[in-house]
Amino acid sequence: PSHTDSHGNKMCRFQGCWYYYNTLQSVLNFQRGFQPQDTDIILASYPKSGATWLKALTVALLERSKNNSSDDHHPLLSDNPHGIVPFLEIDIYHESSSPDLAKFSSVPRLFSTHMPLNTLHENLKNSPCKIVYVCRNVKDTIISWWFFGCAVNKIEPDRSILESMFESFCNGTIYYGPFWEHLLSYWRGSLEDPKHVLFMRYEEMKGKPRDQIKRLADFLDCPFTKEEEENGCLDEILDLCSLRNLSGLEVNKTGKINNINHKVFFRKGEVGDWKNYLTPEMENKIDMIIQEKLQGSGLKF
Ligand code: A3P
Repeated sequence: PSHTDSHGNKMCRFQGCWYYYNTLQSVLNFQRGFQPQDTDIILASYPKSGATWLKALTVALLERSKNNSSDDHHPLLSDNPHGIVPFLEIDIYHESSSPDLAKFSSVPRLFSTHMPLNTLHENLKNSPCKIVYVCRNVKDTIISWWFFGCAVNKIEPDRSILESMFESFCNGTIYYGPFWEHLLSYWRGSLEDPKHVLFMRYEEMKGKPRDQIKRLADFLDCPFTKEEEENGCLDEILDLCSLRNLSGLEVNKTGKINNINHKVFFRKGEVGDWKNYLTPEMENKIDMIIQEKLQGSGLKF
């Protein structure tokens, strides 16, 4: 089946998930060619759910355990998190099923993806590599998508675009959607295999950042020592990776990736911004859909 999105781009469905045509080709390339290494870390998310933040935190956690990072050489100071942790299907496998992975020679290799877990499954099923998924409440994700889509397409965030995107979210025909299927693929994966799939939430990261970064560090086998917790190392990482700090760095004010200005990845970073844009009818409609779709899964918002 095919479909056209609110910006006029053609989409088609593969393994239950909606892609733009060019992304689907990359997904197929990935499935044909990707061979995981045991130490790989894959950061997964639905678009606009906190990937930039998760990438920054993971990079900072691993840098500190390399124990050789003076501030001057910290990768986050000279590149955007998306430049450091590329998307498998968007950046790496977009041209061929056998890309040159030489630049990923460091251990562990860090990758990211927006593909649902069922689409990664064949490639990863015999691997102990680690997957971290970050999810966000659907209403903030929709609003974030709206602003991002308009910024990338260099148009004003018009309400008619929001309304049409909202309908696509509700009926599931949205890039990488249905949203709930995406969440559920990783949610089930984390229940079945908690050593290999960590399920995180943007709202919990905002609410209890210290607890959540410790959870992430434990999962990645680089836990904070008592000393690191007390000597400010943990808080330094949170500060370094804060939206305020990252968005103020020169590289993020001026750089570009895939023709997208780095600064577009940083907007408000708040929980509940949707209240400024969605009508009560929209709120009720999407709440009911999500409640119904997640029913019985144990996953709640
Ligand atoms: P808003 O549009 O609600 O502000 P992604 O990184 O998956 O593309 O998600 C983008 C959302 O994460 C945006 O949300 C953006 O502002 C927010 N974000 C980016 N960097 C962040 C950070 N370091 N800390 C918290 N939120 C961040």
